[in-house]
This record gives sequence, C-alpha cells and structure tokens, in this order.
Amino acid sequence: MKTDSAFLELQDNAPRVRVWFDGQPLDLPAGANLAAALLAAGVRVFRHTPVSGAPRAPFCMMGACFECLVETGGGVRQACMLEVEEGMKISRPHEAEAGDATL
Ligand code: FES
Repeated sequence: MKTDSAFLELQDNAPRVRVWFDGQPLDLPAGANLAAALLAAGVRVFRHTPVSGAPRAPFCMMGACFECLVETGGGVRQACMLEVEEGMKISRPHEAEAGDATL
C-alpha cells in the first residue's frame, strides 16, 4: 500500500519485507525505523487517545513523547524505537475504547 505522504524514504531501493498494519499488508524497508517507514507508507494515525479518541501520530521520533505507540509483539511499544522486521503484526492500541473516532 503506497499512498501520498509528506514523508519520503531516503533509500527507495532498500530490500522490502512484508508487515501488517491493522490487517493491511505493507512492504517496508527491512531494518528501517518503524515509525518513519509507516509514515512514508502513508499511515497517518498510529493510535487514538483512550479518553477523547483524538488521532495521534509520531512527533519527536526519539522516544520521548509516546505519540507513536502501536501494538506489536504482544505489547504496546513506541514505533520510533523499533526496526522493521519481516512478518511484524502491528495494530493501533486502544481501538476498542476509541469508539467510532477511526480516521
Ligand atoms: S515519536 Fe515520540 S516517542 Fe516515538
């Protein structure tokens, strides 16, 4: 899935691996920063706040703001602190609590 994004990959010819984001297949550069790769692939909402359902996305890209939280590997993790690995299953945390605020 490649969509319009304000973010570009620096190495467009990097080897790709298949991951799933909310059940949708994405072919991302192996070993890339997960948050950056998802942004470049067009993912704009990483999670919704559990209280208001407001959409959130990476902000600091250095592990400080926690806006990039995703569910993967059996827990909620900061996407900006992870590397893209083959077969990753990634989902938005708190989706059940966010009601119909999905964007
Ligand atoms: S973008 Fe701030 S912690 Fe990941």
